[in-house]
Amino acid sequence: MNDRFPPPARFAQRARVNADTAEALGLHGLHDDIRRLAYWSEAADALVWRTRWHTLVDWQPPRSKWFVGGTLNATETCLDQHLHTWRRNKAALIWEGEPMQGGRPQDTRTLTYQQLFDEVVRFAGVLRSLGVQTGDRVCLYMPLVPEAVIAMLACARLGATHSVVFGGFSAEALRDRIHDAGCKVVVTADGGARKGQVVHLKDTVDAALADPRTGCVQKVVVVRRTGHAVAMTAGRDVWWDDAMAQARPVTEAVAVDAEHPLFILYTSGTTGKPKGVVHSTGGYLTGVARSYRFVFDHKDEDIFWCSADVGWVTGHSYVVYGPLANGATVFLYEGAPVYPAPDRFWDIIERNRISVLYTAPTAIRTFMRLGDHHVRAHDLSSLRLLGSVGEPINPEAWRWYHDVVGGGRCPIVDTWWQTETGSIMASPLPGLTTAKPGSCMHPLPGVDLAVVRPDGHECAPDEQGLLVSRRPWPSMMRTVWGDDERFRQTYWVQLKDPVTGAPWYFTGDGARRDKDGALWVIGRVDDVVNVSGHRLGTAEVESALVLHKAVAEAAVVGRPDDVKGQGIVAFVTLKANQTPTEALKKELMAQVAAEIGSFARPDDVRWANALPKTRSGKIMRRLLRELATKGRVEGDMTSLEDFSAIAALQSED
Ligand code: WTA
Repeated sequence: MNDRFPPPARFAQRARVNADTAEALGLHGLHDDIRRLAYWSEAADALVWRTRWHTLVDWQPPRSKWFVGGTLNATETCLDQHLHTWRRNKAALIWEGEPMQGGRPQDTRTLTYQQLFDEVVRFAGVLRSLGVQTGDRVCLYMPLVPEAVIAMLACARLGATHSVVFGGFSAEALRDRIHDAGCKVVVTADGGARKGQVVHLKDTVDAALADPRTGCVQKVVVVRRTGHAVAMTAGRDVWWDDAMAQARPVTEAVAVDAEHPLFILYTSGTTGKPKGVVHSTGGYLTGVARSYRFVFDHKDEDIFWCSADVGWVTGHSYVVYGPLANGATVFLYEGAPVYPAPDRFWDIIERNRISVLYTAPTAIRTFMRLGDHHVRAHDLSSLRLLGSVGEPINPEAWRWYHDVVGGGRCPIVDTWWQTETGSIMASPLPGLTTAKPGSCMHPLPGVDLAVVRPDGHECAPDEQGLLVSRRPWPSMMRTVWGDDERFRQTYWVQLKDPVTGAPWYFTGDGARRDKDGALWVIGRVDDVVNVSGHRLGTAEVESALVLHKAVAEAAVVGRPDDVKGQGIVAFVTLKANQTPTEALKKELMAQVAAEIGSFARPDDVRWANALPKTRSGKIMRRLLRELATKGRVEGDMTSLEDFSAIAALQSED
C-alpha cells in the first residue's frame, strides 16, 4: 500500500478508467487508487450537478479540490430532485417536540418533500430580503425543530455558508463563533424545550450580540417555539412567521462551485480557540450521500432516527444532508432522551415505527443503567438496523444494544469519523461485514485509513499506533476558517509517507488493527477529551478557568467515566492570597459552564500547590491523567521539575 501517490493530472484522466481496464493496461501500482477514484466518481454521479465536473480531484497535499469545474446547489440534490418523483409526497421530516408544560403531550409535525421545499425556498427569500448573499455567513443557534433544518437548507439555497452553533453553548462561546465567522444574520428561537425547562436561546443571542465584536450581525430571525416573552430589538430582530408571510420564495437555486463552503462547524482542538472546520459543497455532499446509502443500507420505506442535534457534525451529515440527498424519511426529536420518563426513547421508536436508530454510546450506557424493563415494555419490532457514533463503544454496551434494543436481530454499525472527515470513514456494512463488538471494522470503500508508527511505517497486527488517512477523500475538511496555517499545522505535519514524504492526514486518534484487519479506535491521543460524545479541548476548559480572578494556573485532563466515556478533572493552583474552599470549587465549575456551556462543567476540581512541569516548563499531563484516574502516579517522572507538586497532589487522597 506504499505505492506512490500519482500527480493530480494523471489521476483525473484515469479516474474514468474502469479498474479492470487499468489492470489490463498494466497500471498495477495505481490499481487501488483508480478503484478508489472510480468509486468516488460514481458516487458523485448520484448528485444533481448544474455543470458536470471535468477533473475528479486536484490533490496538492494538504489542499484538495474535488469535482473541479463542477457547479451545483446542495438543495437541488436534497429537495428538488425528489419533487419530480413519487417522493414529492413522501415524509421528509417527522418531528416530535418535547412535551411542554401547558402544551400538548405529543407535539408533532410532518413535512413532505414538497412542503419542506416550500418552506426552504420561502426562508431563502427571507434571508435574501435581509441582505444575505452568496458567500455570506449565517449563524444558527436553534433548538431541534424543523426550522433548524429549513434554515440550513435555505442558506445552501442561496450559496450562503451556515455556521450552526449547538444550543447548549454559552453566550461567550456563541459570541466567539459569530465573530470568527463574521456572520451577517443569526437565526434563533425564543427558546427550546429540554428536560421540562425552557432553554433561553434568544436571551443568550442578545447577550452575545451585546459585545461589539459581534457588530457584523445585522439581523436576527426568531422562531416562536416556547411562546415565552423575549426582548425584540427594533430594526434588528424579526419573527420567523412574520418574515415568512412576506417573503418572496427563491425558487431558482444559486449554483455554486463544487468547492464553495457549504458550512463552517466549530470543533475543539488542542489549543484554546475552537476551529471553524470548513466543508465544501460537492465533496461533502458526495461523502454523506454515499455513506448514508451504504452504511445505513438505505430503504425507501425506512424511518431513520439519528438522535444527534444539528449543532454537531452528526446532525449535519446524518440528520440533514445524507438522508435528504437519498430521499429518506428523517425523524427528529427535540428533547432529552429520558424526559419525561426513562422509556421516552423506546416510546418514540414504538409510536413512530423507527426502523434505523443512530445514537451515541453514552446514551446507550445511560439506558443500560436504567434497566431492560423500560425497553422491553415497548414493541421495537420496527427496528432493523442500529448505529453508534461519537466514541468507542465498549463491548458490554454493544451487546446490550444488540440483544435488548435490537432483539438480537438488528446489525450494529459502529461508525468512526470526525467533524473534519465530514462523513463516516470506517464502519461495518450491514449484511456484508460480520461485526466484532467494539470495532468499527474496516474503512469504507474509497477511504484509505492506516494505523502507523510515528515514523509512518504501518503497525504490526495488534500493535497500537496512530490513525491516519493516506489518501484524500471528497468530504475531507478544506481548511480552518480564516486560518489556513492552523489547518496545516493541526493535521498535516505530524505524519508522512516514509517513502515519498507526502503528508498524511492525522486524525488525533490512537488505534490498532487486529489479526483479521479489523480496526479498533482507542480514542484521542491529543489533548482532546470526549465527554458524552462531545469533543472538548482541555486547553479550552483551562482558558475558561484561568479567567477566574482566584486562579493562577489550571491543567485539565480526562478520566474514564462509566457513562460519559470521559469526565473532566481540573487541577487548579490559586493565587497567593486565595483560599481553596468548596464554594470556590463550585464557582469554578460554574465559570466553565458560563464560558463554554454546561456540558463542559468539570466533574472534579482539585487544588494543587503547583502543577507538575518538565524542566522546559511544560505541564506533564500524563502524570495528571494518572493521578485523576488511579489517584497516584506510577509512571516515569525523570523529566519532572518540581517533584513536590506531585507529592502534594498524591497526599490529597
Ligand atoms: C471519536 C463525531 C471510536 C474519535 C462524528 C474521533 C469514535 C472523535 C467513534 C470525533 C467511534 C467518533 N469509535 N471513537 N465509532 N466515532 N469517535 O468531531 O475520537 O465530534 O476523533 O465527530 O470522536 O468527534 P467529532
